[in-house]
Amino acid sequence: MGAAPRRTGAFLVTTMSYENLLLARDGAVAVVTLNRPEKLNALNARTIDELRRAMLELRHDEAVRAVVITGAGEKAFVAGADIAELASGTPVSGRDLALRGQHVFDLVEHLGKPTIAAINGVALGGGCELAMACTFRLAADTARLGQPEINLGIIPGYGGTQRLPRLVGRDRAMDLVLTGRHVPAEEAQAMGLVTRVVPAAALMAEAMALAATLAAKAPVALRLAMEAITRGLEMPLADACAYEATLFGLAMATDDMKEGTRAFLEKRKPAFTGR
Ligand code: COA
Repeated sequence: MGAAPRRTGAFLVTTMSYENLLLARDGAVAVVTLNRPEKLNALNARTIDELRRAMLELRHDEAVRAVVITGAGEKAFVAGADIAELASGTPVSGRDLALRGQHVFDLVEHLGKPTIAAINGVALGGGCELAMACTFRLAADTARLGQPEINLGIIPGYGGTQRLPRLVGRDRAMDLVLTGRHVPAEEAQAMGLVTRVVPAAALMAEAMALAATLAAKAPVALRLAMEAITRGLEMPLADACAYEATLFGLAMATDDMKEGTRAFLEKRKPAFTGR
């Protein structure tokens, strides 16, 4: 871990000991690429563990203000958990596998900075679950999403049975989880599973542009807003509103609040520092 960085193209790349992930930086935006294209970026144990380490690295890196997650190659974002590994599992190892994956996707969801899934191809099973843990989902018009675990005689285990109905409602979640069908990007957008569909060739540019927009916002306010929405959704309305008021008060304590309000009154763009 922590070896010297090297430059490739526009990105500064850290040469951490990742085998199945590429981690690149472009200013305040980090790009995580799941990189097992020969297996359609399927999440084996090593990849899940590397994703966990990458999330911890990015969470603690104050210079990173937004994260894009995508898949290597043109076919897949992530084609799910690694079925070859699953095939030899036991009830106990299966439970451990699900708990580990859930933990990593919780790290993604609660990273404290916005994450954008740039869905460049199939996002199936664990791939759909990873995308749902992200703050935004931009999909290439060629992408397909789904929870096909039922066809393997199992059920989603990385939060899919829970995040999917929260995003698209109970009936649509039942449809996707019980039939296992693959949903084209346009239909996924219509049901609220993806935020936006863009031409495949424009996907990364759109994702980077959104990330740059978010990276220019006040980081503490972003974090508090995401917390208010994500955690508040799990609470009764009155408790959630009380929680919102507390986080609103916290935002008032930041230098960025003073800068944002002053910049408005002085008719200039704010320069947020994250303090
Ligand atoms: N786990 C392990 N390996 C996988 C995988 C997965 N989830 N998804 C794809 N692969 C592997 C294939 O076994 C194949 O490997 P091989 O070349 O060594 O045989 C390679 O990736 C390419 O996949 P292939 O199935 O040949 O591509 P395709 O274009 O014909 O089909 C999919 C693409 C996505 C429809 C198909 O791969 C698929 O259904 N994958 C499984 C999706 C799934 O059920 N996910 C949930 C898992 S819990």
